[in-house]
Amino acid sequence: MSRPPFVSVHIQSAAPGRRVAAADIVEAYAREIRAGRIPAGCRLPPVRVLERQLGLSKNTAQAAYDELAARGLLHGRPREGVFVAAADGVSPSPPPVAQPPLPALKPVPDMFASPPREGTLRLSSAFIDPELLPREALLDCFRSVLRQPGLEPFYDHQGHPPLRAAIAQRLGRRGMEVRPEQVILTVGSQQAIDIVSRSLTVGRMATEDPVYPYGRALLERNGIERVPLPLDPFAGIDLDAWEQIVARRRPSLLYAITSFQNPTGYSYSSHELAGLLALAQRHGLALLEDDWGSDMLPDSEYRPSLRLLGGANVLYMNSFTKKLWPALRIGYLVAPEPLVPTLVAAKRLSTLGSPPLLEATLAEFLDRGYYDTHLDRLQAELDQRYQACLTTLREVMPPEVRWTTPGGGPTLWLDLPRSVDLGRLRQALAARWIDIEDASVAFPDAGHLHGFRISYAYAPMADVRRALLAVAEELQGQLQQPGRPREARAIRA
Ligand SMILES: Cc1ncc(COP(=O)(O)O)c(C=O)c1O
Repeated sequence: MSRPPFVSVHIQSAAPGRRVAAADIVEAYAREIRAGRIPAGCRLPPVRVLERQLGLSKNTAQAAYDELAARGLLHGRPREGVFVAAADGVSPSPPPVAQPPLPALKPVPDMFASPPREGTLRLSSAFIDPELLPREALLDCFRSVLRQPGLEPFYDHQGHPPLRAAIAQRLGRRGMEVRPEQVILTVGSQQAIDIVSRSLTVGRMATEDPVYPYGRALLERNGIERVPLPLDPFAGIDLDAWEQIVARRRPSLLYAITSFQNPTGYSYSSHELAGLLALAQRHGLALLEDDWGSDMLPDSEYRPSLRLLGGANVLYMNSFTKKLWPALRIGYLVAPEPLVPTLVAAKRLSTLGSPPLLEATLAEFLDRGYYDTHLDRLQAELDQRYQACLTTLREVMPPEVRWTTPGGGPTLWLDLPRSVDLGRLRQALAARWIDIEDASVAFPDAGHLHGFRISYAYAPMADVRRALLAVAEELQGQLQQPGRPREARAIRA
């Protein structure tokens, strides 16, 4: 049986500056016990603990406890310790427990409500297939970092300088002029959104509609008013419509996911990027670009970025979590230098720093060229899966269903006839151990699309195909409503 914790009492010497004497201990405990502040049954500190804590000379504590026992205030129990005695032989009751109330919390964002059951195939997850994670190479870099003799025990609040330098250099290879001093490392790029949104003086931010759900939830939590800009991945961006909304609502910043937008998988064309920059200039609108997806295309092709076309005033964020290792949780923000101290201060307020051991591991990984090798492999794999996904969709989907063709990368958007009940579809698929994202959280506004995101990054192609077959079957079931007869298309597994 574990022993109960002992009570602690402040004991001071009656003679200031002198060492505590046995009489001081007796006086302190007798006072507390008689006042009822230490109830019967409480355990007192063991003699050796009291000696050490108060710096007592030998036998002082024991003499004090002997005296308290002689006065009937304490009794010892062999191998259990010293306890406050019960008055008049009444058996001691356990000390009263005062339970503090629970704090009242804000509600959890709706998208956190129900994670899929363990073992469910996640058809909308943009994480990388665990089979594609470069385990050994990363482990090698981690070991090498831990062996470095000059490994600093402290950290730079802005992030591990060699990794910041490596990121600046990589972005330079893609035509962006970036200095290491402009790079702020973050705990995933989610923290970049947090830092920026907490640092704005004007609390109004434009986002695409549909919106990246965790981004939306974070902005709401940070008290930012969102200005939705409709995005149709089949028709592209209506820049005139965006301009009218911006002119009317006057957001101070636009957060744009320019490649493989979450959840639509849409990537901005060069014309749209240029139009957006012009619009931003006309309306004094700052830009935050989330560029998680531009380097997920095959053949080392990069999509252009707002940061490349618009220069250093564009705030730019990216992440290694969706391309290298989700659990690494390393992202970054690139900002104009005058903004850096404020943004780093916001980072320090929430996390003080980001994990330098992992950042050093990633710096080593980049330095050895492992990341480029890994990206090549990932891009080629995603490209194959994308092609296979398109083939399956063409083969099995009812004719009313349409999907986007983003050209590769991790995700596309599957859009369904309005008559399809998405909640029922989710439920039916969940019963078959397949999870599709509930995209309603991305549509707090208009809901001009009706479907969900398909990812071919996470599940191996055979599983994606199996899931798509199940989706097609469920859709056919729903679309063959009474009064609307149609032939079921044969589905080959
Ligand atoms: C568009 C987009 N931006 C940012 C994030 C945040 O990702 P992380 O913090 O893992 O970098 C996500 C995560 O899903 C995302 O989809």
